[in-house]
Amino acid sequence: MTRSSAADARPHDRRTAQRPPARRPARRCALRARALAAVALLALALGAAGCSLKGAENVNQIAGKQQFVAKCGSCHILARAGTKGIVGPNLDEAFRQGLSEGEARSTVRGIVEGQILNPNPEGAMPKNLVGSATRRDIATYVASVVARPGQDKGLLASAVQAPGAGKPAVEKAGKLQIPASPSGQLAYAAAKASAEVGAVTVEMPNTSGVSHNIAFEAGEHGSSGPGPVLGASKIISKGTATVSLTLKRGTYTFFCEVPGHRPAGMYGTLTVK
Ligand code: HEC
Repeated sequence: MTRSSAADARPHDRRTAQRPPARRPARRCALRARALAAVALLALALGAAGCSLKGAENVNQIAGKQQFVAKCGSCHILARAGTKGIVGPNLDEAFRQGLSEGEARSTVRGIVEGQILNPNPEGAMPKNLVGSATRRDIATYVASVVARPGQDKGLLASAVQAPGAGKPAVEKAGKLQIPASPSGQLAYAAAKASAEVGAVTVEMPNTSGVSHNIAFEAGEHGSSGPGPVLGASKIISKGTATVSLTLKRGTYTFFCEVPGHRPAGMYGTLTVK
C-alpha cells in the first residue's frame, strides 16, 4: 500500500486546521480510537518487558518540556510551557473539553504521540520532528500539563529559562549582538540592548531552527508598533542574520517580523546614548 492510500483510509488524516468546530467531536473520537490502540500496544509491550505502566510515567519530563519548547512551541500555545506559537491549534484549548469530560491523561499522551508520528500530511505540522524517545518525553509532559491551571513546580519550573531573561546586549566597536532564543522560544535571548549614537551592525545569531529576523522601529512599543521599519535583517532559521543601521539618540524597539512572533513576545528595547 502506498503512503497516500494508507493516509486516505484514515479519517484522522482528512482533517484540516480550518475544520469547523462542529466537526471536532467526531475527529476526537477517531483520534481517541487510534490513541487507545496505541496505549494498548504500549501496555502490551511494557508487560512483555516486565515493567508496569507506572514506569512509563517516569520518562524524562524535564527533557520533554525542553524539547516541546524547542520543537513545538513556535507553533503551539501551551500555557505551562510558556509557549505562544499560533500556527497550530492552542493545545490547552484542544484538550480541555475532553479532559473535563473524563478523558484520561494517558489517552491524551497517546493522541500527542500519534500526532507527532503522523501529522496531517496536508497540514503545516512537519513530520519526523523528533525521534521515538523524545516523542514519548514530549507526549508525557504535554499530557501531564495540558489544560492544567497554575505553573510548573520544582525542577520542571526551571527546565527552560524565562524568555528574554539573558544579560542585556551591549554594542562593542560598532557591533551589537542580539541572539534569537536558543531554546526555541519566541523571544530574543535579551529583552534589552544598548548602543552608541552612529553606525551599528546588528547581528542576530539563531541556533534554534525556528525562523526569525530582527527589525527596528523608533520608540518603545512592545508587542505591536506603528512602524515604519528603519531596517530589518533577512529571516533565517539557522546562522546569523545582520542589519546595519545609523542610530540617533533615543529608544527603539527591536522585533521579529515573522507573523505571530512579535505578539508572542519576540521584541525588546534598544537604548541609544
Ligand atoms: C510548523 C508548525 C508546527 C510545529 C513545529 C508543530 N505543530 Fe503540531 N500542529 C500544527 C498544525 C498546523 C496542526 C493542525 C493540523 C494537523 O493536525 O496537522 C497541529 C496539530 C497538532 C495537534 C493536534 C491538536 C488537536 O486539535 O487535536 C497536536 C497534539 C500537536 N500538533 C502537537 C505538536 C507537538 C507535540 C509538536 C512538537 C513535537 C508539534 N505539534 C509541532 C503545527 C505545528
